[in-house]
Amino acid sequence: MSSTPNDPIARNVASSQSEMTEIILPNDTNILVSLLGGRLMHFIDLTGAMAAYRHSHANIVTAAMDHIDFIRPVHLGDLLTLKSSVNRAFTTSMEVGVKVWAENTRTGSVDHVASAYLVFVAIDNQGRRQKVPQLLPETPDEIRRYEDALRRREYRDAETTRRKEARLTTAREMPAIE
Ligand SMILES: CC(C)(COP(=O)(O)OP(=O)(O)OC[C@H]1O[C@@H](n2cnc3c(N)ncnc32)[C@H](O)[C@@H]1OP(=O)(O)O)[C@@H](O)C(=O)NCCC(=O)NCCS
Repeated sequence: MSSTPNDPIARNVASSQSEMTEIILPNDTNILVSLLGGRLMHFIDLTGAMAAYRHSHANIVTAAMDHIDFIRPVHLGDLLTLKSSVNRAFTTSMEVGVKVWAENTRTGSVDHVASAYLVFVAIDNQGRRQKVPQLLPETPDEIRRYEDALRRREYRDAETTRRKEARLTTAREMPAIE
């Protein structure tokens, strides 16, 4: 079977699932000695990008991180494990879900601490958007996430259009700077 950039071969979810583990060091924490929210978002972005990169076999950029729940703080010395899966591929974009757990190595407890949805867009070497392979969901959970991703995309598209229009209106109303 061959593949061209216009007709990439569909891939299953398992082939791009990714995982990253980090130890939380003093540089990652705030004055309460908990992991900084921005640092956690950085780890989430990287782990999400790994799955999108593996799925698309292309350069990718983050278009949106549209939903993130910080469920409980992560402490200095905790081991953070992040897992990512492509939920659905569209034309040039992919929605990726990332789930994060923190392990307290002294007690051995492992807690779910955050979840997020991100959208990545594939870009070719000339900087043009590039078609991505379709996703083949197989398990009941994968099928549920695949269907939910379409609902989130509809909401996201409406919001993106609304924000683009708001930016245009603001730009028209801005006084010229002389
Ligand atoms: C993301 C980006 C390529 C989209 O460009 P654009 O001109 O708005 O693209 P289009 O409207 O043609 O949309 C292209 C795809 O991106 C998706 N997209 C665009 N903006 C989006 C947003 N805010 N949220 C979710 N998806 C978005 C579209 O739905 C479309 O998906 P599809 O091809 O699967 O249907 C562009 O905004 C960009 O380059 N942003 C900067 C990215 C960046 O620097 N990220 C941080 C560092 S990696």
